[in-house]
Amino acid sequence: MVTSNELPGGISSNTLAFLDLDHPGAKDPEYRDRRVQIANLARVFREQPADPFPIVSYTEQEHQVWRQCFAALWPLQEKHACNAYLEGRQRLALPEDHIPQLADVSGRLASYEGFRLRPVEGLVVPRIFLQQLERRIMLSTQYIRHPSRPFFTPEPDIVHELLGHAAMFTHAPFVALSRLIGRGARLSSDGQLEQIGRLYWFTVEFGLIQEEGETRAFGAGLLGGVEDLTRAFASGADVRPFDLEEIVAMDYDFNHPQPIYFVIPSFDELCAAVETFVSSLG
Ligand SMILES: [Fe+2]
Repeated sequence: MVTSNELPGGISSNTLAFLDLDHPGAKDPEYRDRRVQIANLARVFREQPADPFPIVSYTEQEHQVWRQCFAALWPLQEKHACNAYLEGRQRLALPEDHIPQLADVSGRLASYEGFRLRPVEGLVVPRIFLQQLERRIMLSTQYIRHPSRPFFTPEPDIVHELLGHAAMFTHAPFVALSRLIGRGARLSSDGQLEQIGRLYWFTVEFGLIQEEGETRAFGAGLLGGVEDLTRAFASGADVRPFDLEEIVAMDYDFNHPQPIYFVIPSFDELCAAVETFVSSLG
């Protein structure tokens, strides 16, 4: 049973940051209606928690987008994902032929490091979203991207959440990193929060790691995006050694493909650096 105590605190319609959609779906009224329908399920859940949380009856066209993404991502991940992701991918065993329900994946995730997914209508303002990580919760969307551009999305969707993020939450050091970032968001001033957001962006979303002499991906923006993952490993990509000071001072634009990536030496070293940074906040 999900009780209101287990729900992320502080989320309300005022803390949702709806994007001014700058992608093909924005001009498709049918797609927009469908987005509202799925968002409403999450809203009802937020206002009146129930068990199980919202089940979405996906359409055949939506399952088809998932299949397309899954088929393209699988071999790319095989080639470029870090060991922790590949292990997590095996543990979760997400289906290739249909979109799984968020509740089912959340239940499986929780059995590893206690991390859970909770449905949300859309993008949430950074402080609320990041703070939930400390409680081992990731707020997740349930809609899927527009079928006309399956390999890139400027905003989170179910492909990004499940094929990009979920597997990493079975890995203890990554969960520790996520919780540290969540703690940082809780302790930070508005200016510091912007720095925490950048840290999140260049690690949890677009991070690379040095592993067995090779550069591998662990960021969800990469592992859940065919175009992003391909771009990060193309010749000429701007790949830099991890530098926390450089990262927290660097702007990014989530509406466009990511141009710069940072490679961490290991999760332990990243966590140590983030812990020192978070301790300096407040
Ligand atoms: Fe994400």
